[in-house]
Amino acid sequence: MSQSSRFAVKKAVIPAAGLGTRFLPATKALPKEMLPIVDKPVIQFVVEEAVSAGLQDLLMITGRNKNALENHFDRVAELEQVLSDKGDKKKLFSVQESTQLADIHYTRQGDPKGLGHAVLRAKSHVGEHSFAVLLGDDVIDSRDPILPQMLKLHEETGDNVVALMEVPMDQIHLYGAAKVSELSGDVVKIDQLIEKPSEKEAPSNLAVIGRYVLRPEIFEVLEKTPEGRNGEIQLTDALQFAAANPSVAGGVRGVIFRGRRYDTGDKLDFIKATLRMAIDRDDIGKELRVWLKDFSKEI
Ligand code: UTP
Repeated sequence: MSQSSRFAVKKAVIPAAGLGTRFLPATKALPKEMLPIVDKPVIQFVVEEAVSAGLQDLLMITGRNKNALENHFDRVAELEQVLSDKGDKKKLFSVQESTQLADIHYTRQGDPKGLGHAVLRAKSHVGEHSFAVLLGDDVIDSRDPILPQMLKLHEETGDNVVALMEVPMDQIHLYGAAKVSELSGDVVKIDQLIEKPSEKEAPSNLAVIGRYVLRPEIFEVLEKTPEGRNGEIQLTDALQFAAANPSVAGGVRGVIFRGRRYDTGDKLDFIKATLRMAIDRDDIGKELRVWLKDFSKEI
């Protein structure tokens, strides 16, 4: 097998089993991934991103209270019939669109014991191939795609690839932080990763964001990864092991992302995502701009 076909990626894993505590009480009964940005649930943006990058086989990791996620990607015959009878083609399309996007499989995480634990649940579905991970609450604006570049880098090098973003130093404690050495342009080699470091401990202001392309060997690493911060199995800890032991699971590279990205599990970022996307829409964008200009005089 040639190097590039060995590392070709066909499957994506979408962890969506977190408790969403930052968005309570809205997320008491509703998964945070179902919160809508205007009229489309966050999870649909994530699925569409995977599909645009050529990944059609998706495994969603879900948990309790997450039935709405499966329902969203399933047919609703009764609703479709009503819209069809009314001749409302636009709404009918909007309802059917999510059901035809991809081949979506589901598995439950059981206890939400961290992102690493969620990814480990994908082991039997993924098998012996490299795969992508897209966090279910992390939205990358479709105008600024990064996954295709990450997939290409993985195919060419066989290294694990993470997306990185520069964040203000006082926010680095919210992310996994990377120590990197320059390779070329926005592509870097990762020498060390630390999960949610203090400002003092952080090796840089480069934060890992919710896109990964991983080798299947990462599952064995995750199986041996002890519980880390917050008693959870951290994907960052497994990737730190890979970075320190490249002969076991491949090294780790990073692609620095400079586009629009929203952590929709965070209230402020969710509102920013809504405004940024709404303002460019044909149906409500114009009126929203006028209103925002007026509103900005009040604040
Ligand atoms: P977060 O850390 O943002 O999720 O995980 P959380 O724990 O739900 O968030 P808060 O802090 O309580 O609000 C990022 C992604 O990983 C998934 C989440 O659903 C989210 O898409 N995740 C996290 C899991 O699938 N399982 C877990 O055990 C933890």
